[in-house]
Amino acid sequence: MQILHTSHIGGFMEKKGKFIVLEGGEGSGKSTCIGVLKERLPLIFGAHAFLFTREPGGTAIGENIRRILMSKDPGLEHMQPLTELMLFCAARTEHVQTVINPALQNGTHIVCDRFDASTIAYQIDALERNDLRSDFEILNALALGHRSRKVFHQWMGGPHPDIYIILDVDPWVGLERTAEAKGKDTTRFDDKEIAFHVRVRESFLRFAQIHPESAVVLNANMAQEDVVQEVLDIILSVVDS
Ligand code: TMP
Repeated sequence: MQILHTSHIGGFMEKKGKFIVLEGGEGSGKSTCIGVLKERLPLIFGAHAFLFTREPGGTAIGENIRRILMSKDPGLEHMQPLTELMLFCAARTEHVQTVINPALQNGTHIVCDRFDASTIAYQIDALERNDLRSDFEILNALALGHRSRKVFHQWMGGPHPDIYIILDVDPWVGLERTAEAKGKDTTRFDDKEIAFHVRVRESFLRFAQIHPESAVVLNANMAQEDVVQEVLDIILSVVDS
């Protein structure tokens, strides 16, 4: 059974807005970048043209799932990899069905802080759980609303990002930035060993190689203003296309 990556598949859903995803390892500068985009994009396109959201999160249920997933509380921090994968996909289900799909159908553009490339990077590649890849493909396709069970090898129906902008940072630099910015408020993902973060980075770079039509890698080691400008230019060209 071959299940194609969802970003390759045209959906049934009428999608009028553009779906833009920002991805990257810890300390890649996504949050700073999104902060600037929140100020600048409304000035260019109007106050309601863009919706900013994030994963895991973006809905009340998703934000509660996020609390569990990020927690370092004893009893929550050790989770079965399949449970973790399912929780990310559960949060995504709620997010796609109640926020992303309606907004895109309405003509609103979306900037989403992380999406399914993060699940591949963190829950499959960084955890070295290649055995979960086909489970991911099914759970993610369901989360995206793909429902063509009779033609199981051709998932169709849900939204797929127009572009994944991957902010690529040296994991050592990224973790230093994270420690500076968050102090003790790191998540259990921030606290993983360096080898984990190196695998996250390699996974994002591989994702971009596999999906050259919908993924672009930016060097996030350069000055923050330059990164933001490049992200802005990409978004302007995607919205114009
Ligand atoms: P962030 O919003 O500060 O980037 O934190 C979200 C964390 O969640 C980050 O460490 C990456 C992780 N994550 C996954 O492990 N899998 C996923 O599918 C997503 C969306 C995020």
